[in-house]
Amino acid sequence: MSLPIVVLGAGAAGLMCALQAGRRGHPVVLIEHNDRIGRKILISGGGRCNFTNTSVSAKNYVSGNAHFCKSALSRFESSDFVALVEAHGIGYHEKKLGQLFCDKSAREIVAMLEEECREANVEIRLSCVVKSVSKESDGSFAVETSAGRVPASRVVIATGGLSIPQIGATEIGYRIARHFGLKVTPLTPALDGFTVKDELAFLTELSGISLDVTLSCLNGISFRENILFTHAGLSGPAALQGSLHWKRGESITLDLLPELDVLEWLMQEKRDASRKQLKNLLGEKLTSRFAELFCEHYHPGLGEACQAPDKALKALASRLKKWEIFPSGTVGYNKAEVTKGGVDTDELSSKTMESKKVPGLYFIGEVVDVTGWLGGFNFQWAWASASAAAEAF
Ligand code: FDA
Repeated sequence: MSLPIVVLGAGAAGLMCALQAGRRGHPVVLIEHNDRIGRKILISGGGRCNFTNTSVSAKNYVSGNAHFCKSALSRFESSDFVALVEAHGIGYHEKKLGQLFCDKSAREIVAMLEEECREANVEIRLSCVVKSVSKESDGSFAVETSAGRVPASRVVIATGGLSIPQIGATEIGYRIARHFGLKVTPLTPALDGFTVKDELAFLTELSGISLDVTLSCLNGISFRENILFTHAGLSGPAALQGSLHWKRGESITLDLLPELDVLEWLMQEKRDASRKQLKNLLGEKLTSRFAELFCEHYHPGLGEACQAPDKALKALASRLKKWEIFPSGTVGYNKAEVTKGGVDTDELSSKTMESKKVPGLYFIGEVVDVTGWLGGFNFQWAWASASAAAEAF
């Protein structure tokens, strides 16, 4: 009997690859060290799994090679995954910005993938820890696991990134890549938000307050979404997105009132002889607590609008439109949605995800140096890269 294709990691990418390979008639063994499949899917999207986005393109990904993801994404589109979801009768809705979520629960996505695997005769081995992979002289592979050696015709590494070690993330995929001499780009937590330096410690006093802002990164990318102040620093969708595009030492800039010509508004208040304290005026738009601390920290001594010198109003308006912050770091792997970086795309075929140096060895999903923005793009990469590999078998 022919050796099975062995897929390592029963997360989003591994499940999709296994079911597609099984449908093609291949014997498939899917190995997972947790006692159940798809744990990260279960906690995704606040438990409702933002499983794809209606508008996916290469520009929604960060990678050493911006073109690498194009081929796979074009051959398994978000509509392909939606068709699968609909075929299983799973209700879904668009929340915002093309982000598709389950109406009920992420459990439905895991159940769907499990059922598809069962129908495709995929053998799932749970509570089985992958330790290493080696290549045999006849070109086949041996996967060393806690339950013994598993021979394989091909091996697919779908062991994901380093984020949320509490639910099973490990570095095994990168270790296997390095063992075979494949380059791995620097790894950092991403989509995790920012921590702040001591001089911005006052921000942590705003914990729980959220504001609708435009957050801009030095690479020119900006996001119009909410930020949420936390005990650590900045969270919320805009900060999560920003953390993917930020490099240590760089600043980020916030426009706190993106809808408003702030200088014009403040000058008008002055012309109207407004006796309101400036911090109270700001408080009407930015919450009183935020306005109070922001003014205390940056613009102490501001009084009534009618008495403020033009120069002071200009400085205030300028900071409200372009508030430059230097984060001390990002929050880290315990909160990160993804790992930025991974197996260098130069090492892989963009058509099949197969290693150029080691025929028969494939890398799919988050372990590859392709990281999606927040909004369903990471799952879409998992589905598409998995599908690209399975098509090649
Ligand atoms: P994934 O991490 O899913 O799977 C890897 C599997 O390998 C795991 O099951 C793991 O246990 C297993 N494994 C690891 N080491 C092993 C070993 N030594 N032996 C055996 N098995 C091993 N994305 C998105 O598009 N929409 C969303 O809504 C969200 N939401 C979200 C929320 C949170 C809290 C997080 C942390 C992440 C998200 N994401 C997301 C990101 C998304 O979950 C992630 O990009 C994909 O799950 C990646 O899929 P993979 O299959 O590559 O890795």
